[in-house]
Amino acid sequence: MPVEFEQTFRNFLMLHQEKHNRTYHFLILMDSIIAAAKRIELYYRTGALKGNLGVAGSINIQGENVMKMDDIANEIVLHYLASNKRVIQVVSEECDDIVDMNKEGGRYFVYFDPLDGSSNVSHGLPVGFMFGIAKRFLDGDMRGPEDYHLREGSEYIAAGMFVIPTGMFTLALRDAGCWRFHSDETSTYVKPVQLTMPDNPKTWELSFNAGNTNVFSDKVQKWIGANLNKYKFRYIGALAGDFHRLLSNGGLFMYPAIVNHPNPKENRPQGKLRLLYEANVAAFMCREAGGDAIDETGTRILDLKPAAHHQRTTLYVGSKPIIDDLAAALKA
Ligand code: AHG
Ligand code: MN
Ligand code: MN
Ligand code: MN
Repeated sequence: MPVEFEQTFRNFLMLHQEKHNRTYHFLILMDSIIAAAKRIELYYRTGALKGNLGVAGSINIQGENVMKMDDIANEIVLHYLASNKRVIQVVSEECDDIVDMNKEGGRYFVYFDPLDGSSNVSHGLPVGFMFGIAKRFLDGDMRGPEDYHLREGSEYIAAGMFVIPTGMFTLALRDAGCWRFHSDETSTYVKPVQLTMPDNPKTWELSFNAGNTNVFSDKVQKWIGANLNKYKFRYIGALAGDFHRLLSNGGLFMYPAIVNHPNPKENRPQGKLRLLYEANVAAFMCREAGGDAIDETGTRILDLKPAAHHQRTTLYVGSKPIIDDLAAALKA
């Protein structure tokens, strides 16, 4: 019987780089990201057994209770990114400040959420590792790498996510589509499949924290009232997992502003999700899959100019027709 082979992620990326006359530096960067994802997955799978699914006992810069897995995943990603020497600086959800790596010789900025969906951790349910990548200006005009970490999503060259511990990896490459890979028996990511978000409402799903509905703005509540029963509703509570479904089925994921909360301290007009390593990552993947993403003012997520590295935003991401419909409803 002939031996059967699936194309590996590495081979896919090598051919992509060669086709576009690019260097192999990006392959080296992606090797580190894959190594990190595999190690996070390993810790997560044995987490309950080894006592790693509990709380760490600290509060992060976001004001959230940190889980042990948030810290473990963060340490793993920082280790692999620092050791590959291609990274200038990183922004991590779990680091208060921007972390310097190879400031002189590096080529890339990496923005990451080492463990997305922390509330799933204590149950061992799906979580994510999400990342976006921007590149240093290489036009000879050295503007100082440290000044340019705050990039718009439209300047990202790639963004992706792993759904852990399912062995599924999705990567979008600028102007080259959104691709899904699966981990095989040797823990190698293989079999690229291009994803296109369906424009046909038949398979669409809605995904948002429905428990917040009555604290959303009146316009958002009205839109939900008119649309909720048209589609299936799914919410895992981890953007990576919820968005993973949407890339195949289409529809809408949203995290609107909290504006009607009885306790003014709980109001979050700027949304909950972080622009650089959550919203931009989903928006970039979505654009490459033929979808779209806006904030509550109707501005494209990828056009938002970040002013701070942990900046939050409202997020509406999904199939183009549903985003267009929402944009009109938000404007009205
Ligand atoms: P993280 O665990 O990285 O802090 O992200 C949590 C985010 C995101 O994954 C998810 O979509 C959202 O928070 C869920 O929030 P609610 O629990 O408010 O629904
Ligand atoms: Mn968090
Ligand atoms: Mn997250
Ligand atoms: Mn996180």
